[in-house]
Amino acid sequence: MAVPDAFVFDAYGTLFDPLSVTARADALVPGRGAELAKLWRAKQLEYTWLGSLMEARGDFRRVTEQALDYALEALALDLDAKARRELAAAWLELAPYPEAGRALARLAPRPCWILSNGTRAMLDPLVDRSGLRAHVAGVLSVDEVGVYKPSPRVYALACERLALPAARIGFVSSNGWDATGAKACGMTVWWVNRSGAPVERHGPPPDFVVRSLDAVGA
Ligand code: 2OP
Repeated sequence: MAVPDAFVFDAYGTLFDPLSVTARADALVPGRGAELAKLWRAKQLEYTWLGSLMEARGDFRRVTEQALDYALEALALDLDAKARRELAAAWLELAPYPEAGRALARLAPRPCWILSNGTRAMLDPLVDRSGLRAHVAGVLSVDEVGVYKPSPRVYALACERLALPAARIGFVSSNGWDATGAKACGMTVWWVNRSGAPVERHGPPPDFVVRSLDAVGA
């Protein structure tokens, strides 16, 4: 398989570690942080899929807040408005995975882009604060097409903006459903299976299954 002309990376869970959300949650609801962060992330993604299907989507910042409110009530956890704002702000300050910078640098000179459900107002500070900006050719938010992943319109945005056919783009995501969506659109796909999860069954499998970003493009 020929080496892609460019790479497109998912953000949350792929370049940036949502685990720091857990730490912030545990500080606010001691002993319940992991449980809260897990339900919160699951509901955040569920609301992106429902919003797309309903053709009535809020942006990722709004969906993240709505998912937090649901998770807190579902777990009978009571946080005041200030604590909820502080917790939601954790998504703006996620740490990059340890290998993210060196993995992006190794792929140079092929351009590396970000394609994410996040809004630009969420993503740009994250890219700058993490020190990854020097390795990132551009940041694409699904807000440009008004629908969330895994809509084919999202992956088509990357093809259009990079002026490349899907097969010449290496797509990298830790989210199995996202990797499946990109593969269904013809991209060359690396699934960063950090948790050892099974391959998704609802669409074509990724081209490569790796455990960290260090193995991408190798
Ligand atoms: C992202 O779009 C899928 O939430 C993940 O960055």
